[in-house]
Amino acid sequence: MALKIKKILISEEQLEAKIKELGKQISEEYAGRRPILVGLLKGSVPFMARLITSIDCELETQYMAISSYEGGITSLGKIRIIKDLDVPIEGRDIIIVEDIVDTGLTLDTIIRLLKSRLARSVEVACLLDKRTKRVKDVDIKYIGFDIPDEFVVGFGLDYNELLRNLPYVGVLDTEELKEA
Ligand code: IMP
Ligand code: MG
Repeated sequence: MALKIKKILISEEQLEAKIKELGKQISEEYAGRRPILVGLLKGSVPFMARLITSIDCELETQYMAISSYEGGITSLGKIRIIKDLDVPIEGRDIIIVEDIVDTGLTLDTIIRLLKSRLARSVEVACLLDKRTKRVKDVDIKYIGFDIPDEFVVGFGLDYNELLRNLPYVGVLDTEELKEA
């Protein structure tokens, strides 16, 4: 079954311009602090790549991979850590880089985890914010775009691991999927 995009929600040009803006803001606010940007795999990859090349202060990068809890071993609330950070973060300024915040449960758990490791500060840069779906209130410092409650794909976001490679953010045609 071919996956169809109902409409383009955010174009390549809009993504590029907004990420540059966020990068400029982070550059100014973190000058002299050498933050660690923590990308959450896999959805944040395109956003992370564009964001770090838009920041001109010193920074380090790290990645974490998380999945919803499915009865695995290292459970932490409702999530499971598949790949953890490679370095201690005590005393460091952390910016979590995420593709989309939906219920907020994932981010809330990660924020609490990184704070418990005695990071000096933990902020969030999130490309898309679906705030109508929020269950857990999370404080997001850098937001790309507010989006409505629709299932979006592209620019890192997937449907069953597909469509992450679209250069734009589009709304998936879910009607067709229900009929199939
Ligand atoms: P939550 O904020 O804990 O609900 O989890 C957000 C995660 O759900 C994101 O990191 C995505 O992996 C996934 N997600 C939520 N909404 C969408 C969407 O519209 N398209 C693709 N993935 C989504
Ligand atoms: Mg994700």
